[in-house]
Amino acid sequence: MSTAIPNRTVGIGLISVGWMGKVHSRAYQSLPIVYPELGIKPRLIIAADNVQERADYAVDVLGFESSTLDYREVLAHPDVDVVSICAPNFLHAEIGIAAAKAGKSFWIEKPVGRGASETEAVEAAAIAAGVTTTIGFNYRNAPAVEHAKELIESGALGRITNIRGTFFADYSAEPNGALSWRFIRKFAGSGVLGDLMGHLADLVQYLVGPIEEVSGITKTIITERPVLEMGTGTHFAVIEGGKLEPVENEDYAGALIRFADSAIAAGAVGTIEASRVAVGPRASYTFEIYGTEGSLKWDFERMNEIEIAIGRKGEHIGYQRVMASPSFGDFGSFQPGAGTSMGYDDLKIVEARKFLEAYFGGAAKNSNIHDAVSAARVVSAIEQSAESKKWVAISPVIGTTAAISK
Ligand SMILES: NC(=O)c1ccc[n+]([C@@H]2O[C@H](COP(=O)([O-])OP(=O)(O)OC[C@H]3O[C@@H](n4cnc5c(N)ncnc54)[C@H](O)[C@@H]3O)[C@@H](O)[C@H]2O)c1
Repeated sequence: MSTAIPNRTVGIGLISVGWMGKVHSRAYQSLPIVYPELGIKPRLIIAADNVQERADYAVDVLGFESSTLDYREVLAHPDVDVVSICAPNFLHAEIGIAAAKAGKSFWIEKPVGRGASETEAVEAAAIAAGVTTTIGFNYRNAPAVEHAKELIESGALGRITNIRGTFFADYSAEPNGALSWRFIRKFAGSGVLGDLMGHLADLVQYLVGPIEEVSGITKTIITERPVLEMGTGTHFAVIEGGKLEPVENEDYAGALIRFADSAIAAGAVGTIEASRVAVGPRASYTFEIYGTEGSLKWDFERMNEIEIAIGRKGEHIGYQRVMASPSFGDFGSFQPGAGTSMGYDDLKIVEARKFLEAYFGGAAKNSNIHDAVSAARVVSAIEQSAESKKWVAISPVIGTTAAISK
């Protein structure tokens, strides 16, 4: 092995061992294999979950050296350098602020709290502590999305005029789909707004630029569901004959949006929609971006391809389907050639790479806490607008990685 490769060991703490806890752990484990040239060697030190079985799973299956029922022990552990915060939304602010105060850089799952004010409190704590942050906005990391960003920034699409985005999932399309913590306000805050619309708001701002105004609408379609105890199962669970309780937040949200003026997107407008009860789309997370010189569209269900149309002349005018290949984003670190697809978990490995490279003082390609505030403000504005039936303006956020006015 080349001596030029640094040896950068980093102690990992994990808070919450649910779906995301597992995915973050796998990402840390895979990182040295996918990116050996970085010399980053994550060491899985300690994981916390308040359910004993899940804490045990972290040691027995995920390979952590120890576990605890109390997340504070993760933050206090001397060998923990950085922390993954994979807890349900109601704990994001409490744990994010505690991590910052403990001087630990953190990779936190979206939406970072139950609304913009909690996200802003985490942002203030992270700024005060000067720690590195990364947000679970994984769809940014798809190589086809990174390629879309490059095309937009290069001007290949001309000036962006309008966009259309949908995050349509069916994880709760079944009426007996579980009432997990995601449906209860005190645990989740909003419903599909925080869960999926936040991802979409981030993606669209990452690609096109800051959204400055929205007119929103929301709807709860299935009003009661069978209860699922936290720390058991997943939100995809279907429970026959269970005790029904009310759904407290929205299943569907939509908004007209207006982007802030920039050279790339002067006067651009669009629509964004999210649903957790769509029948048909499984995880159809899409964007269409239209410009004066061309267009592109992407769907997470076909993550490894993108449709691109450049120019208005010639026999082959119209969309061309292009497979992701080693020249797109991080694709080449995973696969040697096009057609050998990457998957969802791989996006988290890219996210771990961006987080830890930034932590070690390298390029800041990671999404950050300012991006989380920016997405949360869009989400909160849609909620307010749906209530007031008026357009709601969004105050700009400094320090985001959104496409910048050029
Ligand atoms: N980026 C993405 O694509 C994506 C996908 C799914 C979830 N998420 C986000 O990740 C977070 C977790 O979601 P999930 O699907 O993994 O949830 P989950 O229900 O699978 O897991 C949550 C875990 O938190 C644990 N927990 C509850 N209270 C705790 C406490 N006091 N201390 C420690 N652990 C505690 C539970 O026991 C459970 O194991 C959410 O904020 C969600 O929005 C992001």
